[in-house]
Amino acid sequence: MNIIKVNDYQEMSEKASQYIIDKVKANPKMVLGLATGGTPEGTYKRLIEDHNQNGTSYDGIETFNLDEYVGLSGDHPQSYRHYMNERFFNHIDINKENTYVPRGNTVDAEAECEAYEALMASVGGIDLQILGIGGNGHIGFNEPGTSFQSPTHIVDLAQSTKEANARYFANIDEVPNQAITMGIASIMKSREILLLISGESKHEAYKQLIEGEIKENFPASILRNHPYVTIIADKAAIGE
Ligand code: F6R
Repeated sequence: MNIIKVNDYQEMSEKASQYIIDKVKANPKMVLGLATGGTPEGTYKRLIEDHNQNGTSYDGIETFNLDEYVGLSGDHPQSYRHYMNERFFNHIDINKENTYVPRGNTVDAEAECEAYEALMASVGGIDLQILGIGGNGHIGFNEPGTSFQSPTHIVDLAQSTKEANARYFANIDEVPNQAITMGIASIMKSREILLLISGESKHEAYKQLIEGEIKENFPASILRNHPYVTIIADKAAIGE
């Protein structure tokens, strides 16, 4: 794993966006894996600024998001589809039909998982997957204990994850209990991974990722077995 150390969230967002811009320019037809949450927000902002100022184009790009809440439709303000439209897709020249987020309000969530996995395979897989990390080591919504062999699947959200995400909802009772997430195996199939880590609250996760053993109880640890991972982490996360 290649680790890029930066001072703070702002510098992490700048470095991450530049990293993505360089990749998109090198391969304007690339398949990009995307994350939601607080961590990549600054990165999306900078990608939009760059699109406006320098005209970097996304019209040949396809995207796959990591996850979506079960039960929320794409126009629900807390759905990840809505997050992506508002924070990124609506502000660049991407063809929305080429942006994929699991459909959380589908009648058959199991079938949606299988279809999503098949769709990723049909476009030749993900070239670059952007990841954040949960304080408990989750990636996507793969909570501790998830099989390293898991494809896209339905998960019950850990209480700690519901608490961490309650900030986006009126109260914790409104946070859905389940989500559809790319599995660990799906994430590991990406040709390249860019993991962003910022803030003191992620310090323990960072430490365990770097120093701990590779085990299913700390899902992100599997990334140590991936041949092409870049981590951009700030000082607070590193503990400096
Ligand atoms: C988001 C996702 C999650 C987040 C993680 C960190 O699509 O899959 O794994 O990356 O929960 O969230 P933040 O960035 O809000 O700390």
